[in-house]
Amino acid sequence: MQITIEKKPYASLEREAIVTPVFEADDPIQGRVAELDQLLGGLLKKLATSGELTGKNLEFTLLHAPTGLKASRLLLVGAGKREQFNGATLRKLAGAALRSLKGKSVRNFAFLAGGTLPVVEGAQALAEGFIAADFETDKYKTDKKEKKIETISLVGFPEGEFSAAEKGLAAGRVIAEALNFTRDLVNEPSNKLTPRILAEKAEAMANEAGLAVDILDDKKIAELKMGALLSVAQGSVEPPRMIVVTYTPANAKPGAPVIGLVGKAVTFDTGGISIKPADGMEKMKYDMAGGATMLGAIRALAALKPNVKVICVVPSTENMPGGKAQKPGDIQTAMSGKTIEVLNTDAEGRLILADAITYAKQLGVTHIVDAATLTGAIVVALANVNVGVFGSNQEFTDKLLASAKAAGEKMWQLPMDDEYREFIKGSFADIQNIGSGKGGGSITGAWFIREFAGDTPWIHLDIAGTAWNDDAKPWLAKGPTGVALRTLVHLVQTY
Ligand code: BES
Ligand code: ZN
Ligand code: ZN
Repeated sequence: MQITIEKKPYASLEREAIVTPVFEADDPIQGRVAELDQLLGGLLKKLATSGELTGKNLEFTLLHAPTGLKASRLLLVGAGKREQFNGATLRKLAGAALRSLKGKSVRNFAFLAGGTLPVVEGAQALAEGFIAADFETDKYKTDKKEKKIETISLVGFPEGEFSAAEKGLAAGRVIAEALNFTRDLVNEPSNKLTPRILAEKAEAMANEAGLAVDILDDKKIAELKMGALLSVAQGSVEPPRMIVVTYTPANAKPGAPVIGLVGKAVTFDTGGISIKPADGMEKMKYDMAGGATMLGAIRALAALKPNVKVICVVPSTENMPGGKAQKPGDIQTAMSGKTIEVLNTDAEGRLILADAITYAKQLGVTHIVDAATLTGAIVVALANVNVGVFGSNQEFTDKLLASAKAAGEKMWQLPMDDEYREFIKGSFADIQNIGSGKGGGSITGAWFIREFAGDTPWIHLDIAGTAWNDDAKPWLAKGPTGVALRTLVHLVQTY
């Protein structure tokens, strides 16, 4: 799909459709829409008067053969109130317009941009919205939809702002393509994406993006005494991998921060001996979304070239029951030397993150963000709306929350009082992998990981509720969302 900045006036463009946002107001016929209304001989005014055109968020009005335009259709999309309009609204609007037109077999359209947001931000949001919306999860369908959007023209940017629009478009493209790279990994079923295959894909991505890569195999993992990762992997015939991808900026200052992006990549979580119920278990192929998000983020950063070093560490394994699987009550020794009582083999994400964090610290990271589909409890707390945020350092956590806001991703911080730490004190080892108290499951999970981060400023993102869309949205296909990637890219870029 091609997206280009079009300099010609929109009325002269021969396209299968022209799309324009309409803001919600007592009189929605204003500015660009008033201009279009004139071309259409007052038709839009009539629609507004009859209440059919209000500008309410994602209201769609499709007109054929619009007079005064060379395009064959005019699609008006409600943009909501102007005061509430931002990058997130524009992304959704753009995505929804694309998916709606694609459904009608439209192959090319122009989007009336400009005049809504600052130019760079607007062009970036449009590129992100279109490219993310174009992603389909039909990879394994033999009868694929023939429908395809071939070209999109962004028209209406003020003269003198074309290069700013190109800049926003380029950044948006990098980020959205990285997002789709992540979503494609997350969508892969576990028979097509084992830890070894994930490592191969990460290596190929790193080579293509010009990033350094190091894959630790099961032998090396054992040599390094990553006992927590190995304990999860021992039940599977598929060997684990620890994937390390590094971005080094051209002129890193000595003593500058090094950001560690650590992501859980359990390619399938059966629960192990503490096996999960059959109903819905198929979804546990997305238990590697945290790792995929970190790999996507560093892929984008390789192109955006921020001035900060980033080390991405992704522990990957299956969590299977079997004759060799670990059992409840087993005591394991993590790479850090801490002993862990595994009371529930389904709380495996924190185990593999423990060793990944120890290893990231050994590699020299000064700040850590981890992302993981860690707990079902986060869905109870925040539903499928907010990412759960936990942090050991408020200044660092505030930075991440500010990035989430700027990137338009919903995230909510949860408390980490010392009282919760008591819940994971071990009876027979240093710590236990589930809380002994009732409730607070996401917080005890976070506390477990924090034990391994120690004094290194650390943030944990629980994306179990937000990494997967159970239903398609007008702007996004059903399935993987790529949540947190845009926030992380923003965080590194502004560090
Ligand atoms: N992968 C799951 C968490 C999960 C649940 C992800 C729902 C996506 C959707 C994780 O490994 C897990 O099983 N966690 C347990 C922890 C419990 C045993 C303390 C859970 O949430 O039930
Ligand atoms: Zn589990
Ligand atoms: Zn899991």
